[in-house]
Amino acid sequence: MKIRALLVGLVAVGLSAAAVAADPIVIKFSHVVAQDTPKGKGADKFKELAEKYTNGAVKVEVYPNSTLYKDKEEMEALQLGAVQMLAPSLAKFGPLGVREFEAFDLPYIFDGYDALHKITKGPVGQQLLDKLEPRGIKGLAYWDNGFKSFSANSPITKPEDLRGKKLRIQSSKVLEEQMRQIRALPQVMAFSETYQALQTGVVDGTENPHSNLYTQKMHEVQKHLALTDHGYLGYAVITNKRFWDGLPADVRSQLDKAMDEATDYANQIAKEENDKALEAVRASGKTEIRALSDEERAAFIKALLPVHKKMESRVGAATIKSIYEATGFDPGKF
Ligand code: LMR
Repeated sequence: MKIRALLVGLVAVGLSAAAVAADPIVIKFSHVVAQDTPKGKGADKFKELAEKYTNGAVKVEVYPNSTLYKDKEEMEALQLGAVQMLAPSLAKFGPLGVREFEAFDLPYIFDGYDALHKITKGPVGQQLLDKLEPRGIKGLAYWDNGFKSFSANSPITKPEDLRGKKLRIQSSKVLEEQMRQIRALPQVMAFSETYQALQTGVVDGTENPHSNLYTQKMHEVQKHLALTDHGYLGYAVITNKRFWDGLPADVRSQLDKAMDEATDYANQIAKEENDKALEAVRASGKTEIRALSDEERAAFIKALLPVHKKMESRVGAATIKSIYEATGFDPGKF
């Protein structure tokens, strides 16, 4: 009787009995940040909703904090089918051969979340996700994190303060050029290795949205933080296309629904999580936080804007133009 009631319930939510009779479909979702971050919370929300909407036909195992794979390995694992879902930062798609994603790294290209959403919630963002398909990857959504601040062990109020400093970056050629532009020395490094590199002095500083800085305790080994907001860091949630296309259609549609809602949730909490993290850094008393004056900010913009032109051949002039047009960004204004 109980079983019959269960089956009736499942049919009511649109899931075939076949989908639930078998062992659950397992989705391993690997990521590199702490659980208590916009991405960590988004992944946990997706797990909760996916398991609920499929009545347990799908089990989502979330592996946070690089416990399963580090940055570079996780991309390979997804392509090999060892994990089914990731949400790498948009700065990490270059090695897959999709260089256009690095346009998201261009300094000051988004003047806040509203401008960014014109891309991530619009046709330009969708066209970028479509470029992943020939690589066997399906892009499901964009999840926000936030805008980055520079940190180091000496005060930062102007671009020259970073000159000669070794700064950890993600694996993006645009970020590399951004650092060279201010004559810093970029060092590509996995996220999971950054805290130790800062602690031991292998690198002098880095750039992060505040939620990442705080949850990795980087503020404990960085004495100065400048609120430069000089670039965006966010994610594309991706899955192995063969895996996704092979799911029963009814299961896939419930997962789409779970992903849509998890995306709204992740994007709703992102700014607040970063604001809270900044306050926690402040409260720790370990890092001096410097807000920039309008003149100081203008000096960073002036120093970093030439990166857009220089990186045209890397990310594509057409991609940059389509972002300018959709957001109304005018580089001539500065
Ligand atoms: C980084 O490597 O700094 C970020 O991509 C980490 C993350 O996933 O937010």
